[in-house]
Amino acid sequence: MTATGVGLRTKTVHGVALCDDPAREACFTVVHTDAEMHEWPGMSDVSRRERIHRHMNNECGAMEIAAQALVDFPDAPWDLRMRVARQAADEARHVLLLARRLDELNGHRGEFPVANYEWGVTNMVNTLPGRLAIENRTFEAGLIDLLGSLRTTWREAGDETTAEVLDAILSDEITHVRFANRWIRRLTEENPRVLLDVAMAVRFLARVNQALEPAVGSVNAVGVAFTAESRRPPAVDVDARLEADFTEEEVREVLRQAGFRSILPREVS
Ligand SMILES: [Fe+2]
Ligand SMILES: [Fe+2]
Repeated sequence: MTATGVGLRTKTVHGVALCDDPAREACFTVVHTDAEMHEWPGMSDVSRRERIHRHMNNECGAMEIAAQALVDFPDAPWDLRMRVARQAADEARHVLLLARRLDELNGHRGEFPVANYEWGVTNMVNTLPGRLAIENRTFEAGLIDLLGSLRTTWREAGDETTAEVLDAILSDEITHVRFANRWIRRLTEENPRVLLDVAMAVRFLARVNQALEPAVGSVNAVGVAFTAESRRPPAVDVDARLEADFTEEEVREVLRQAGFRSILPREVS
């Protein structure tokens, strides 16, 4: 399988062909698997900095995936291209918010390794609906669930400022997932073959995940063990997913996959 975007090459990780990494400044150490990352449990100072550093690079990847889609699919409907362009601008803002917060917490760019997993997987898919299904409808929808819990984690750890940054990012991510849901539905209605593109993309992602998932009991680069718990999907933010235009049936399916763990609805202020 080859990378399908303009000007992209592939790399092989655990026997799987993925799109080769996007350019990064020389200060960054780019790695290829979770096992090489420096993810810490808990909310120690180093864990806080690494969480923000990792999230910052992931937001950079989301920006690059959206920008690459604009290059690769010049014939996509104009309104959809505008949505993707606005997404790229939002993601750039997310990178800056997190970079600023990292500075405030006395961290620095390149302090921890970074991996470009989402970029590597998404750009192996040669259709825009397929890429939206992976990046927006799966990775970013997962981020919605994760942020739903994380902002509470940061608040409970006494860091209201980071919690507010995550709140702001979350509300943008809901719009990214929503336009992908709406456009995939619309394109499928116009051409049922699109559903096949989406199904193939999702199946490809499942294959990659299976090949790259760290074994339970193995450890990462700072000696933290991967547990069955760490491999579980995050609790589902039902409220936010419905806001992002997933159907109730789709939310039920995600809930089932997450062992029926969910985040309580947000308080209305
Ligand atoms: Fe983002
Ligand atoms: Fe996003």
